[in-house]
Amino acid sequence: MVERETWATRTGFILAAVGSAVGLGNIWRFPFVTGEGGGAAFLLIYLLFVALVGFPAILVEFVVGRKTERNPVGALIELGGDAWKYVGGVFVLTGFVILSFYSVVAGWFIRYFLEGFRGSYATHLEGYEAAAAEAGVSTAEVMFGELSTGLDAFFFHTIFMLLTIGIVALGIRRGIELAVKTMVPAIIVLLVGLAIWAFTLPGSGAGYDYYLSPEFGVIVDNWQTLLPAAAGQAFFTLSLGMGVMITYASYLGEDRNLATDGVTIIGFDTGIAFLTGLVVFPIFFAADITPGEGGAGEIFVSMTSAFADVTGGHIIGLVFFGIVAIAALSSAISLLEVVTAYVIDEKGVERWKAALGMGGIIYLLGVPVTYDLVFLDLLDGFADGILLVFGALMLVLLVGWITPKFAVQELEKGIGDLGGLGTAWIWAIRVPILVVLVVSLYLGVVEYVEFLTEDFADWIDANL
Ligand code: TRP
Repeated sequence: MVERETWATRTGFILAAVGSAVGLGNIWRFPFVTGEGGGAAFLLIYLLFVALVGFPAILVEFVVGRKTERNPVGALIELGGDAWKYVGGVFVLTGFVILSFYSVVAGWFIRYFLEGFRGSYATHLEGYEAAAAEAGVSTAEVMFGELSTGLDAFFFHTIFMLLTIGIVALGIRRGIELAVKTMVPAIIVLLVGLAIWAFTLPGSGAGYDYYLSPEFGVIVDNWQTLLPAAAGQAFFTLSLGMGVMITYASYLGEDRNLATDGVTIIGFDTGIAFLTGLVVFPIFFAADITPGEGGAGEIFVSMTSAFADVTGGHIIGLVFFGIVAIAALSSAISLLEVVTAYVIDEKGVERWKAALGMGGIIYLLGVPVTYDLVFLDLLDGFADGILLVFGALMLVLLVGWITPKFAVQELEKGIGDLGGLGTAWIWAIRVPILVVLVVSLYLGVVEYVEFLTEDFADWIDANL
């Protein structure tokens, strides 16, 4: 047997995991989902979910991966028995669905990045003035409408997917470590700078109120939509629920302290999302745009309006959009890697063939999104509202109830005797977390069925 690969450097694992977690989830998805959830009310539920469910759940994936040293499907079969291959199948399907729309959205970032080279965003926006006046929306919104579907979107979806396939096919790992090492600090510096700038905008104050002071009445009244939205966003942004963290932990040769690693990864990921909100919401309120209505376009609309407003804004803009595109690439790689590793390990296909074949199918699945954004909701809602929560639920069930013995022992390697904490962790995933996941999944399914029978059915009626 060939010896299994392990991370090249001590920090390689952390870097890859952070690279997977930090991506479009933090910068593109977080602000508009927060807007749809009413701002601060969503933020609070989301933060609680990350700490109370996300952290125990990332440890579950870590111990499963490090213990079995296998791809997620193999790992599930080893621990739970043959029937668990179906859950593994769901993981692979989830990777397909997420990466298909992820690539289209990442393509938008490449498009906006290139726009920065053509000079000031203010000039670009002027080109949309007539259309904006006619439609009664801002020029930045018209611009997003033009670029997010059609030939532009199709072209950059193709480019992004080719990059992702290329990197996974070649099995380049060193490149990822370097990319993450420069990208994460760069993103933090940029966001901090933008947040300070947004703070100085007249009228931005209302943005902080909206984002940071929750009203408990709102939470109580809306918990049935807030909970599944927070669950989906938390798993998506942390790359949980489909075996990415199992895969990465399976390459761990040494006994690291998985709890501190989990805190580090979650800390970077949550910090970057939170910072993005500190940029987007003040800008929105200063520009008199209502958050939550722009959907997938919110980050593009707020950022182009902002970059149009400052001298040299297109330079900051191209750096911003470019860095997010790189962040998206390191996440996309992790998604395709899970799917590819499965085909290599379980079907014995060569790496480049597996990456190209799976990547090709995923690419085709994403094409409809470049035609109409209703397909974005179709794929995203299915993956985040249902598949990821289901995946996390199954893992919690397996580790909490079926094979709890190994889990605490495995977690203790690299930490030492956990005493009561280990028991507390197991009981937390056995009962309260399991219940929260079942409820979130149920509410997610209800919401998705509503989407299918209302919005999507309307779209079909109107277009077919
Ligand atoms: N977490 C990434 C982001 O926020 C996306 C991602 C990568 C992901 N791998 C994943 C989401 C696995 C869910 C599952 O952009």
